[in-house]
Amino acid sequence: MKLLESEKEIISNELQDIVDEFQSKPENLIPILQKVQAKLGYLPLPAMEKIAQALNIPAVDVFGPATFYNQFRLNPPGEHQIKVCMGTACYMAGGNIAMESFERRLNIKEGETSPDRKYSLERVACVGCCAMAPVVVVDDKVERSVTPTRVDGIILSFETNGGKKEMETGQGKEGRKELEQSDREEPQKEGEHNS
Ligand code: FES
Repeated sequence: MKLLESEKEIISNELQDIVDEFQSKPENLIPILQKVQAKLGYLPLPAMEKIAQALNIPAVDVFGPATFYNQFRLNPPGEHQIKVCMGTACYMAGGNIAMESFERRLNIKEGETSPDRKYSLERVACVGCCAMAPVVVVDDKVERSVTPTRVDGIILSFETNGGKKEMETGQGKEGRKELEQSDREEPQKEGEHNS
């Protein structure tokens, strides 16, 4: 996933300060990761490498906890965040079918973000409305009884809306503008994989 200029800036200018704030102690790795994620919205690879450098520990010692704990995300949140409930009731009612439909429709896998950062797709545990199973939470709106046809409808509503909704993920309008600009400067080659 291509970094935004604003993210590069945070990684080069602010990350060291965050590590210093925690006395550069490896035992403070988790709060450091939390703070970096709060700044960036996720933990990009270059940020984790820089943290490892600053703490003077192998990069794998940073990747390990970052991938182990659910609280950390390794991909940026999309402009539209799609959360498919995989609690028992939803799974039994076809949550996995809803997930596969989103994966196919968006051409990304669970846990990933589309290269244009428009959509991110993740699985969540029970969201507390099992009677509506299978449930999908789309940008905080609960969608009930989600079938593959409904998946198409949800995506179509975003596509016909022209993706006008601004990012609510910390990157906002500026981030999107920046991404679009960098895409113009460096067009993505066919078949190139970004993540
Ligand atoms: S299992 Fe999906 S809402 Fe409870």
